[in-house]
Amino acid sequence: MMNLEGKTVLVTGGAGFIGSHIVDRLLDLGAAVRVLDSFDDFYNGKESNIKHNLARSSFSLIRGSILDEGELLASLKGVDVVIHMAGQAGIRYCNTFPEKAHLINVVGTFNLLQAMRKLGLKRLIYASSSSIFGPLVRERIDEDHPTNPSSPYGATKLAAEKYCMGFGQVYGLEVTSLRYFSVYGPRGRPDQIIAATYDRIQKGSPPIIYGDGKQVRDFTFVSDAVDATVLAVQQEDSVSRIFNIGYGEAIEINDLMRRIMSRLNGGHNLQIQNEPSYLGDFLATFVDNSLARKILGWRPKVGIDQGLHNYFAWKTENGVN
Ligand SMILES: NC(=O)c1ccc[n+]([C@@H]2O[C@H](COP(=O)([O-])OP(=O)(O)OC[C@H]3O[C@@H](n4cnc5c(N)ncnc54)[C@H](O)[C@@H]3O)[C@@H](O)[C@H]2O)c1
Repeated sequence: MMNLEGKTVLVTGGAGFIGSHIVDRLLDLGAAVRVLDSFDDFYNGKESNIKHNLARSSFSLIRGSILDEGELLASLKGVDVVIHMAGQAGIRYCNTFPEKAHLINVVGTFNLLQAMRKLGLKRLIYASSSSIFGPLVRERIDEDHPTNPSSPYGATKLAAEKYCMGFGQVYGLEVTSLRYFSVYGPRGRPDQIIAATYDRIQKGSPPIIYGDGKQVRDFTFVSDAVDATVLAVQQEDSVSRIFNIGYGEAIEINDLMRRIMSRLNGGHNLQIQNEPSYLGDFLATFVDNSLARKILGWRPKVGIDQGLHNYFAWKTENGVN
């Protein structure tokens, strides 16, 4: 196991939802952490994700873009490990802005790989996604499940994953790809279903379900996603491998809504609003996470009820979007 104390880690997108939690954990483990983040206008409020770290001497922030070679090279100097979280997330948003998704997710990742090559840096963790799979051909999704993304977002995340693994093969980069499944929790993006539903209920607006609500998702609490990411950095056996990072419980969206509404004051009185399903949505994700358990020693700990409890406690303190 790699000891992170004294290591320098660059987290691209480290002001975002998942990235900022990874930053917190790395700092706690004694790493020096650098963040490269463009504070993209996809959504606001990312400053508050990192403000508690600004005064720490082991933390530094570079406001810049993975699309800018100079900024990339400057932020990569002297780095031991890169955790690449910068990306354009959101299937619906990427349906509307596919050029932006391509630019950030594919071109941005390619730029990062080239810059790492130029500087002779080796170790990279890539934030991939369950969206790369598309329609399920078997009940549980293991790492060998076919990848047929049904959206531009999924396609960009898969293309970038292929680039990362290809650079690993040819240029000796030590790459690990983590395919996160529907991550939620404190600092969650406002477009995500759990965050958006909470915010609407607090405002007295009906929660929205796209489609009939029979879609199934494997929701992963953010601290479990962070555990997997840090283990991937620490475990040498993770190099050149791809892992599915999902909790391992299939929840129907209608069931999720019931659980959310029963927890929140006023939730009972609201009628769910069913909107037409959007293109690129997929019927189900249900992970087989046995490879991550075996190789990383990862054990997801926070089930959906505990996760909702933790998240809503945080929301109560931190407010509505
Ligand atoms: N949240 C999930 O459920 C989930 C699931 C699977 C994969 N992912 C992937 O994990 C990563 C992080 O997702 P998130 O949910 O935390 O999203 P997020 O939007 O909160 O974080 C992404 C961060 O990247 C930054 N960024 C965007 N463009 C950039 C650029 N050109 N240069 C530098 N920084 C840039 C943004 O400002 C933001 O801080 C993304 O790559 C996403 O595709 C997320």
